[in-house]
Amino acid sequence: MTMNPKLLHSGILACGITILCLCSSALAFTITHPPTGSYVEHESVNLILKMDKNSTDSVTVTVNTYQYPPIDIPSENENLCFGITLAGNMNQVRVDAFKNKKKIASQELEIFVRSALDNTSKKASRRLPRYIFHVPENENQCISCHKLNPDLSEMTPAKPEDSSCYSCHQNKMASAKPHVPAKKWECLQCHEVKMAQRKYSVPKPVQPLCYRCHGKQVSAWKGMKLMHGPTGVGQCNVCHDPHGSDWHGLTRMHVTDLCNRCHVEKDSGKHVIAGFFGKGHPTRGVPDPLVPGKEFTCAGCHDPHASDFTQLLKMDNSSMGTYCNSCHKK
Ligand code: HEC
Ligand code: HEC
Ligand code: HEC
Ligand code: HEC
Ligand code: HEC
Ligand code: HEC
Ligand code: HEC
Ligand code: HEC
Repeated sequence: MTMNPKLLHSGILACGITILCLCSSALAFTITHPPTGSYVEHESVNLILKMDKNSTDSVTVTVNTYQYPPIDIPSENENLCFGITLAGNMNQVRVDAFKNKKKIASQELEIFVRSALDNTSKKASRRLPRYIFHVPENENQCISCHKLNPDLSEMTPAKPEDSSCYSCHQNKMASAKPHVPAKKWECLQCHEVKMAQRKYSVPKPVQPLCYRCHGKQVSAWKGMKLMHGPTGVGQCNVCHDPHGSDWHGLTRMHVTDLCNRCHVEKDSGKHVIAGFFGKGHPTRGVPDPLVPGKEFTCAGCHDPHASDFTQLLKMDNSSMGTYCNSCHKK
């Protein structure tokens, strides 16, 4: 995965924390979140720095090889919150502090991004603890300024700012095509406040959540002869980001790349037709003849959810001639 940290996701905010620093040593800053050597299951996290306001006037943040523009530290503040975007697997994050343009301190942390679409990352992350923010020890450091006990009136906030999640999680909503309930900041439609074992957790597999609003589709799929592996076991969020996406249909990446993550052998492109010079059937970059305005992908021929035809095909292929001709007229 090539994932450049997006500037869109970055936000800088200074939160003047009132706790007095008990240590007298001249540490320019400490990284309080995320903890080094842990893993997360998503690519955007907030970097929280606790500054010694007197010793530092600016910091730079580098994620792997990408450096964010320098951040000036307003003199009255001690907490600096900064949204960063990580890549898959292990990430090196470095923060450098400056005073009068001279580097005075530097700190590094490692954080791992685990993806259900990447088997090597699933294995590697097993040795690491998962980073969970919403536990009382962490929340207590923020509760003086941020609302952390939402009530159910936030289920349907009148405007985004009425959701208490808004003050910290705007970087989750930076995608081009947000999912309708997330766009309305109805975060609590999906993230349990009261009943959950863990604060804001979601069911695993996630399908019961999706069923509440997409029950008609899910029931129709269940009624078909064949269900696709991950859909059948209710892992809708393996393919879909429930918050939003830059791609059509809330998919986590281009549909063809998504399919090839699990069907690795299809990545060679030699599928359906071997073609001269080993060139296979197109699966991107051309219009879908059956759905106007959409790009042709693996999903042009296969339904990612379910089908009444063999191999999840969208049309009967018992006669190859008729089958191919349904898109290749004449
Ligand atoms: C002294 C008050 C104060 C404390 C304590 C505080 N914050 Fe903030 N924080 C703020 C204010 C004010 C904002 C701006 C809120 C807004 O824009 O709605 C903010 C914004 C943020 C943002 C958004 C940054 C961005 O631009 O995307 C994050 C994330 C954040 N805080 C996390 C935390 C965390 C985590 C803690 C506890 C470790 C914490 N804050 C403690 C006052 C505080
Ligand atoms: C004080 C800031 C703050 C507020 C307010 C806040 N969060 Fe978080 N939340 C964080 C931070 C920091 C993380 C760690 C991941 C990251 O950096 O994005 C996190 C992580 C999470 C996670 C991942 C699991 C975990 O505990 O690490 C979920 C789910 C979540 N938040 C949901 C919510 C929802 C829903 C709301 C609103 C009801 C909310 N948060 C309000 C700061 C906040
Ligand atoms: C349609 C259901 C749904 C809605 C609405 C929703 N979430 Fe989530 N959220 C999930 C699921 C499912 C996960 C588990 C991880 C995943 O699939 O990305 C998750 C994970 C998260 C996480 C932690 C992991 C990650 O992907 O960053 C945060 C933080 C989070 N949600 C915040 C929010 C906030 C803030 C809102 C409101 C703007 C919101 N969510 C709205 C379903 C939802
Ligand atoms: C609170 C209601 C609600 C929940 C819960 C919900 N959705 Fe949606 N979803 C909507 C609405 C509203 C739309 C837009 C209208 C439509 O396409 O039905 C939508 C649209 C979508 C789309 C189509 C987006 C597009 O651009 O074509 C996908 C994909 C989707 N949702 C997936 C999910 C998944 C996966 C879950 C479970 C994690 C889920 N939804 C849970 C309300 C919800
Ligand atoms: C293997 C990946 C994958 C899984 C798993 C998956 N989807 Fe999808 N889904 C897609 C793709 C790809 C599209 C866009 C289809 C297209 O481009 O024609 C889509 C489209 C959708 C749409 C909008 C169009 C429609 O068909 O109504 C909804 C709603 C939706 N999915 C919900 C779900 C729900 C709910 C689940 C879990 C039960 C789920 N998806 C599981 C890949 C997946
Ligand atoms: C998360 C992993 C995953 C993703 C992503 C995924 N698949 Fe699958 N797919 C499976 C599993 C598991 C099976 C069932 C086991 C098997 O037969 O190999 C399967 C089976 C299939 C089958 C054969 C069905 C049959 O009758 O044997 C087709 C066709 C297929 N997938 C197409 C796709 C397409 C097209 C996409 C992208 C939209 C996709 N898959 C994305 C995991 C995935
Ligand atoms: C032009 C239509 C078409 C496109 C595009 C297409 N397929 Fe297929 N696919 C078929 C047909 C027809 C079959 C069944 C005949 C066969 O086995 O070759 C099939 C079978 C499959 C199977 C099950 C049998 C096998 O070969 O493993 C999988 C998995 C699969 N396709 C995945 C994909 C993926 C992933 C993509 C995108 C890279 C894709 N398909 C694009 C038509 C297509
Ligand atoms: C769901 C629609 C669909 C089906 C079914 C389909 N194709 Fe295609 N095919 C396309 C599209 C779209 C293109 C790219 C646009 C074009 O060149 O016309 C394409 C292009 C091709 C090409 C040209 C490849 C190139 O690189 O120039 C060949 C050859 C081809 N298809 C063969 C087949 C065969 C054989 C079948 C039946 C097994 C088939 N197609 C079934 C949609 C389809």
